[in-house]
Amino acid sequence: MTTFADKPTLTGKLVVLRPMVADDTEHMWADLHDAETIRLTGSHGTFERRQLEQWCASRIEQTDRLDLAVTDRSTGEWAGEVVINDWDPDNRSCGFRIALGPAARNRGLGTEATQLVVDYVFDQIDDPPVNRLSLEVYDLNPRGLAVYEKVGFRSEGVLRQALLWAGDFHDAMVMSIIRADRSL
Ligand SMILES: CC(C)(COP(=O)(O)OP(=O)(O)OC[C@H]1O[C@@H](n2cnc3c(N)ncnc32)[C@H](O)[C@@H]1OP(=O)(O)O)[C@@H](O)C(=O)NCCC(=O)NCCS
Repeated sequence: MTTFADKPTLTGKLVVLRPMVADDTEHMWADLHDAETIRLTGSHGTFERRQLEQWCASRIEQTDRLDLAVTDRSTGEWAGEVVINDWDPDNRSCGFRIALGPAARNRGLGTEATQLVVDYVFDQIDDPPVNRLSLEVYDLNPRGLAVYEKVGFRSEGVLRQALLWAGDFHDAMVMSIIRADRSL
């Protein structure tokens, strides 16, 4: 039986996804302060370094979510993080998010990391099986949208003007994959 308490290492051609650890704090800290990452994820919050370290160190203990470091397989270097969260066992649904650092983008790593996690969630988690995986992506992030469509997420609605960024409102697209999509 596999649940979100299990922390896998997933290996693709370009990336290796592995459980997050305290030593990832430095890279996470850098990414969280990257202006483009902040804009594309619409992040308004601030973080304290100590809190972030505790966050990274404690991901391995979480039983209702998955926080994996994305590493570049060719170098072993940190590329970013991918997260399964908001696990709702009653409805067998969960959420997805990903953020790669500046050096890792536009090289196919995000597409492969997303595909690996989607496959893991639907094909390996079985106690209970996941039926729905959803995400939100802002209209200022066409690359994110392209990657999610490529991997099989379908747009299912728009949260109008959900984000206020630099004085402008932006829509958030809600996208999902449900188990039935996987057999089409
Ligand atoms: C979004 C993200 C995960 C994508 O991963 P990536 O490794 O950069 O993307 P990939 O190289 O795998 O693929 C990018 C695809 O988008 C396409 N693309 C790039 N810029 C684009 C644009 N402005 N408009 C449309 N498509 C675009 C590329 O052509 C490519 O598609 P292709 O393989 O069919 O040619 C990554 O860029 C990232 O984490 N960005 C910062 C944070 C973020 O945006 N997180 C997501 C929040 S919802």
